[in-house]
Amino acid sequence: MQKTKYGIDALLDFLSEGKTPFHAVAACEKRLTEAGFTPLSEGEAWNLTPGAGYFVTRNRSSILAFRAPRDELRGFMIAASHTDSPTFRVKHEPTAEVAGGLLRLNVEGYGGMILSSWLDRPLTLAGRLTVREGEAIKTKLVFVDRDLLVIPSVAIHLNREVNKGCAYNPAIDLQPLVGSEGGDLFAVVADAAGVARDAILSFDLSLCDRSPGAVFGLANEFFSSSRIDDLECVFGTLAGFLSADAPKNGVVPLFCAFDNEETGSGTRQGAASDFLSSAVARIARAAGKEPERLYPSSFLVSADNAHARHPNHPELSDGANASDLNRGIVIKHAASQKYATDAVSDAIFSEICRRADAPVQHFQNRSDIPGGSTLGNISTAQLPINSVDIGLPQLAMHSARETAGVRDFGALVLAMTRFFSSAVVCDGDGEYRVL
Ligand code: CO
Repeated sequence: MQKTKYGIDALLDFLSEGKTPFHAVAACEKRLTEAGFTPLSEGEAWNLTPGAGYFVTRNRSSILAFRAPRDELRGFMIAASHTDSPTFRVKHEPTAEVAGGLLRLNVEGYGGMILSSWLDRPLTLAGRLTVREGEAIKTKLVFVDRDLLVIPSVAIHLNREVNKGCAYNPAIDLQPLVGSEGGDLFAVVADAAGVARDAILSFDLSLCDRSPGAVFGLANEFFSSSRIDDLECVFGTLAGFLSADAPKNGVVPLFCAFDNEETGSGTRQGAASDFLSSAVARIARAAGKEPERLYPSSFLVSADNAHARHPNHPELSDGANASDLNRGIVIKHAASQKYATDAVSDAIFSEICRRADAPVQHFQNRSDIPGGSTLGNISTAQLPINSVDIGLPQLAMHSARETAGVRDFGALVLAMTRFFSSAVVCDGDGEYRVL
């Protein structure tokens, strides 16, 4: 397969790099820096050069990037996605000796994962450490780049009922085997981070699968990887952001990826925080505008993956409102308002996709299945602008290893490139033009 700048190989590289939200943000920073973007700090004044690109992080696990306006500022074109995925996090006291001279890792679940998919799979650890450097407390990314642990199943001979469905107790069944008595986890982690063992003050460590993603299918039309939800959308929106034409019509294109969607977004760096709304206000004020006056001519795409109709379980989808692999970007609708899409945002985003030659399809849950939630309506509670909830269709959401369609990723890059080159002008409440 040919390696293009934002093709499937580039996506698989990004999925592999983004082992934790901290690593996903670092992977975004690397690409933004290569494209000439300048880092900003929330704690310092923002002196913006017209047309220049900037990015800022919070907790180093959420990131936003934008291009400063060249002309009179009229609005924002924003895409938001999430950097985190369900996994297991290492507890503060990380290990326990158990029967048979073995060392077990103490973990607890982060987000709602398909538990069985984490069993019997070589895993490792990644995240960040806080370390002492002289008088300073610093954070260091860490990734142990070797197979380090496994969560072992119980043999079928000891549980004959295992294939009839299994209730896993997280405190008993899902604790990984990591070594033997006397083994030193911190020595391994310190070595991987390149720091002295006794410099470690604390840690945010998660289990991760280090095996790379893979393209499969008779026509290479599918791919399998960890963390497709939601790093496929993070990378697809970033690729569109970096590929778009220079902004015109007084628009600020803004790329944003939040941590903690999988636990409800309620942290200082999550979508319920002021990370995005305060950046929008600062950019507006720097351009001499009141932020509130820019909201009507701004637009937010909340990009978080969607459920594809399952080949073995089509009955779990609403037959007339289902989305399918490789049939394009999914626009999500829900009467409950768990999705921010409405007739206005659907019409505006569909028009942008039409101009981009990017296929779209529409998803609504079966009326007796509540489905999941996402960050669109959480974000618009902070920033009241027209918003659409979209995603790419995938199977096995929240499995340790998920599946999606190769062609759908290409559609997202096309659509977001067009989106970030466009403007939405409000001519009065309920009246819009797409430029
Ligand atoms: Co998601």
